[in-house]
Amino acid sequence: MTTDDEAPDGLAGRELVRRGYDELADTYAAEREGNENDALLDRLRSDAPPGRVLDAGCGDGASALEPLVDERPVAGLDFSRSQATLANEVAPGRVVQGDMTALPFADGAFAAVGAFYSVIHVPAEETPAVYEEFARVLCPGGIAMVTTGTEDWAGRNDDWLAGGAPMEWDIFGLDRSTAHLEDAGFTVYETVGVVDGLGDDEKTSRLVAADSDDAEKLFIFARLEP
Ligand SMILES: C[S@@+](CC[C@H](N)C(=O)[O-])C[C@H]1O[C@@H](n2cnc3c(N)ncnc32)[C@H](O)[C@@H]1O
Repeated sequence: MTTDDEAPDGLAGRELVRRGYDELADTYAAEREGNENDALLDRLRSDAPPGRVLDAGCGDGASALEPLVDERPVAGLDFSRSQATLANEVAPGRVVQGDMTALPFADGAFAAVGAFYSVIHVPAEETPAVYEEFARVLCPGGIAMVTTGTEDWAGRNDDWLAGGAPMEWDIFGLDRSTAHLEDAGFTVYETVGVVDGLGDDEKTSRLVAADSDDAEKLFIFARLEP
């Protein structure tokens, strides 16, 4: 695992998020246990050209790195040292500690980028840079899959998952997410809703139609125009 420099104290929401995940990595992993990503990953598998897959904001690697590591070349990236350390156990030597707004990868290095529940933590003014970075590291025709909101929302929880650390979100809904992706050169071609079980007793998440009243977040699939 490679590391970036420690950011100085008190910079912005991103520092709170990074430190939050350093403290909550194990708590989050336990709460995400019932995540059901098979259908989403199947779509990525079938839609992406052959090649390497980046799990951006990979957390402990359970969402994409672990299911894909034996079938495709993969890389994981997370700015939390604790999360990146956990992910490195899943994909040894293929996880980088770094920031989605400045990816440490070459142009065109990936066939697909999966960003499960991660861009929702990026400060609003930096989200366009994330999509520009996804476009830069994808090959022409490459696929990005990102979790967004059903509507714009920003907020904070001072004791997230009862784990003793605060967490912040800065979430764009479908319209503004689509606009940001299009500005970066993507075409949105599929949107799926999810009822997110994180923090629930049963912990299970399930996919629903994007326009379902039950949808709490969205997974957007977008293709980089060749
Ligand atoms: C809700 S967790 C999701 C983890 C994993 N993708 C999953 O589905 O379980 C969000 C992850 O994104 C990471 N993250 C948030 N902002 C990031 C950024 N700007 N650069 C890199 N990682 C970031 C956090 O450290 C955290 O591990």
